[in-house]
Amino acid sequence: MIDLSVNINGLTLSNPIMPASGTFDKELADVVDFNQLGAIVTKTFTADKRAGNPVPRACELPNAMLNAIGIPSKGVENYIEQTVPYYQQYRSPLIASISANTSTDFGKLAAELDNVAGIAAIEANISCPNIEAHGKAFAMEAESTSTVVNALRRATKLPLWVKLTPNTSDIISVAKAAQDCGADAVVVGNTILAMSIDIHTRRPKLGNIMGGLSGPAIKPIMIRMVYQCYKNISIPIIGCGGISTVDDVIEYFLAGSTAVQVGTASFIEPSTMPNLISGLAQYCQQHNIRQLRDLTGAIIDEKFESMTALPY
Ligand SMILES: Cc1cc2nc3c(=O)[nH]c(=O)nc-3n(C[C@H](O)[C@H](O)[C@H](O)COP(=O)(O)O)c2cc1C
Repeated sequence: MIDLSVNINGLTLSNPIMPASGTFDKELADVVDFNQLGAIVTKTFTADKRAGNPVPRACELPNAMLNAIGIPSKGVENYIEQTVPYYQQYRSPLIASISANTSTDFGKLAAELDNVAGIAAIEANISCPNIEAHGKAFAMEAESTSTVVNALRRATKLPLWVKLTPNTSDIISVAKAAQDCGADAVVVGNTILAMSIDIHTRRPKLGNIMGGLSGPAIKPIMIRMVYQCYKNISIPIIGCGGISTVDDVIEYFLAGSTAVQVGTASFIEPSTMPNLISGLAQYCQQHNIRQLRDLTGAIIDEKFESMTALPY
């Protein structure tokens, strides 16, 4: 048996493969043994109930998917009373993805989850709009990231993962701000703001007009961001974006990831995650890799030292 376990700042996962928030639900239990997963990350929820965006909410593009689901939520009570007990039947640690409109509300929501048995960590989806900053996502800037992560850190003793957005011109400062304010790990990252138009109807393909791009097309962008973060922070990085094969997972590790999340690929092939776990074990055996952490940041990048200025 190959040991695929990884350590996310004190939280040990049996392997580094877990679903990306919003791309996984109970229905997948028919095809995926949830006990196999390194962790279970649930769909982002908010404190109160809310509806999602107008339809159509998703469309397919070459090598990518565009969505604007809009975080429909049944609220925190439903999460504590229904979702947490359901996932407690599985061994895999449950990661609660949360969202709010203000840093105060983020803190309040995290505090409500603090003593709930069965939640292993909070993933703060700070890629969502901050109404105190005219709807700019918290994670677009270091300052708003500091404010929200401070509020979260004060509110909870649970391990805190902070999910960043690629829709920033300064991922390094944002990641540093998350680390400095007490995040246990960063997830890099969410979808890329994008848009597509149906040329026959001349209408946007999404009811929300703009949405988030995911899938294989975004992988090189996210690899670049994981690499930039790895060179500048020391907390674990959970890579996410366009992963569908074992090679993708290895690439994310070499760039600096300690674990990875899989989203869009599960819509195309629901057994992607179990396939990645067995494929990763095979890869480690064939390449004589004793522990996955040896691969984290193991890119050979002699030129790095001579790069006086990174492009971002
Ligand atoms: C249909 C859909 C719904 C999503 N919902 C959420 C969500 O609720 N919270 C969140 O943090 N990310 C959400 N995401 C983003 C994914 O978690 C992930 O960051 C992104 O899709 C990139 O990974 P991928 O290329 O493997 O899909 C969603 C993505 C998709 C495609």
